[in-house]
Amino acid sequence: MSRTGREILLGVGGGIAAYKSADLIRRLQDHGYLVTVVPTPSSLNFVGTATWEALTGRPVHSQVWEKVHEVPHISLAEVSDCILIAPATADLIARIAQGRADDLLTNIVLASTAPKMIVPAMHPAMWNDAGTVANVSILRERGFLVMDPDVGRLTGGDVGAGRFPESLAIIETMNGFLSHISDLIGKEILITAGGTREPIDPVRFIGNRSSGKQGYAVAQAALSRGAKVRLISANCDLPVPQGAEIVRVETADEMNSSLNEYFAYSDVLVMCAAVADAKPTTLSNEKIKKSELTTLSFVANPDLLASISQKRRSGQIVVGFAAETSNMEVHAREKLKSKGLDIIFVNDVSGGAIFGSDETRGTMLFANAPDLDIPSTSKDTLAHELLNQVVNRLS
Ligand code: CTP
Repeated sequence: MSRTGREILLGVGGGIAAYKSADLIRRLQDHGYLVTVVPTPSSLNFVGTATWEALTGRPVHSQVWEKVHEVPHISLAEVSDCILIAPATADLIARIAQGRADDLLTNIVLASTAPKMIVPAMHPAMWNDAGTVANVSILRERGFLVMDPDVGRLTGGDVGAGRFPESLAIIETMNGFLSHISDLIGKEILITAGGTREPIDPVRFIGNRSSGKQGYAVAQAALSRGAKVRLISANCDLPVPQGAEIVRVETADEMNSSLNEYFAYSDVLVMCAAVADAKPTTLSNEKIKKSELTTLSFVANPDLLASISQKRRSGQIVVGFAAETSNMEVHAREKLKSKGLDIIFVNDVSGGAIFGSDETRGTMLFANAPDLDIPSTSKDTLAHELLNQVVNRLS
């Protein structure tokens, strides 16, 4: 196969939106991409191989049993600069999340190290089903870019989230994904995630509701863009992004020591962790009996972010987060200044919103630029938005 442009391997799943991929191919070609289509066997019920072969001028196969001597799943995996799966059905998403390899497309997905993007299209009930939600989050954790489907009228007349997005929206998202794929090569990023715990006695602690999802999403996004990532993780029960160096801590004091150990080696600090503002004045070595557990006195913890940012050398970028329940921007701007940050993302956590969720929304504030509102989006998308801002400032 001659290589004169970027090679896109377009996987087509067995949904009615498969016919829209015919237009997607034309628009990809308009943008200079070379396209090879690998349909799933069931998608051929909607659109046959002749259509894909005519549109791409290339042979089309859906099973590993065709052209076996050419080992097509390996050769296609190696030649592809991006794997774009559009449309992806709930079943195809589930098979990929499980690491299955029962047709040519899923074999290629496993064999390829190229960036992978998935454009789901299905009925809203299937998109919102707990199984699909879990599979999508597995894929996002593994670095796949999973686009949110459009909201609108679907085949059959129902309305909701599940529509296949417009071709140009897909290509714009893919271009953004591919362009930042290596913009952090050579950079070291230090990220804190989770919530610190301050022990009261051997069985009890003061904690908070942070899940660590945002910090882990930033770690995954930074890894996918080529950064070296060190993740200081406080009490998170999440899979460690592949390639990240993990430093596990429990208390604010432990997090402080790790920050002081690694900050000097880092180009960027992203402080996602919720740090306990105070700890019990005394730590009991014995379990406190319930009759004695009536009052607790506290001593303040240091502000880790404010003190580490004072140690920054020129060129280092420091990013903070703020959790607020009222006057969000006012409080966030104060924190941006008092903690000496380049960027702060403030989210509204009234009623416990955001904590533990895969979604977030809020406002990004900068030391030197106008605010940026971020409407409800996935924590993965926010992670990339934040890193886009970091990359602008690093250069
Ligand atoms: N932070 C920190 N050390 C602390 C408290 C917070 O490093 N002792 C960091 C957090 O990791 C976050 C930022 O400061 O990046 C803002 O945290 P937030 O909890 O919103 O603010 P606080 O400074 O704790 O102020 P307040 O609780 O009064 O809102």
